[in-house]
Amino acid sequence: MNKLIVANWKMNGDLAKINQDLSIYSQNSITNSPDVVLSLPNVFLSTAQSIIKNNNSQFKLSAQDVSQFSAFGAYTGEVNASMLNEVGVEYVIIGHSERRMYLGESGSVLLNKLENSLNSGLKPIFCIGEQLEIRQNNTYLQFLSEQLELLLQIKAPFNELVIAYEPIWSIGTGIVPKMEDITEVINLISAFVQTYLPHVKITALYGGSVSDKNAHDILNLNGVGGVLVGGASLNTDNFTTICSI
Ligand code: PGA
Repeated sequence: MNKLIVANWKMNGDLAKINQDLSIYSQNSITNSPDVVLSLPNVFLSTAQSIIKNNNSQFKLSAQDVSQFSAFGAYTGEVNASMLNEVGVEYVIIGHSERRMYLGESGSVLLNKLENSLNSGLKPIFCIGEQLEIRQNNTYLQFLSEQLELLLQIKAPFNELVIAYEPIWSIGTGIVPKMEDITEVINLISAFVQTYLPHVKITALYGGSVSDKNAHDILNLNGVGGVLVGGASLNTDNFTTICSI
């Protein structure tokens, strides 16, 4: 099985970096693959798509967010799923803990984003993950199941989904869970989908301090379908090493 390797640039980069990094990725058969996904700030997606077209590149683009509103109209500052679709975006990250924390996104907002994306043909990368406190008081399996339950409310048809497990205490900290702890949650996700969404094929990603040093062990875990890489994806050498595993 090919693994899905998603770079999450977050609010980083500029035009020079987009030009440089995408041309590096285009020239290397390891990164020039449809299983490599670059999640860039919205403002650069159009330029990125032009670079991809010019180089006939195979890697895919993702947005880091999408509007909860689907219609065109008076929603200042918002970008809807069909706009992303039009500029060649294939994936969209939904439910990242940074948006849950800093933008207060949850429940119905995330559900709308999932619905709108699926209805526009974008592939959601739905993120779940617990805070340290929840991990330490041992209620994380319950907490993560409740985050997954949102998927049961989706009305749009779908038969594929990418779900990323990103423990909040691991994001940007350099702390990676024990391999058996990652496996435990990946198994929870698989069991949940098998039980409640048996027609859906899932790709389960791990995210949180993934680096060129630990990606090999993580990607070799049973059930892990790929990784979502933040900080390490900003360095083309590190990211290429991760993609080469
Ligand atoms: P990190 O971020 O790799 O820098 O920990 C991952 C993420 O937030 O998606």
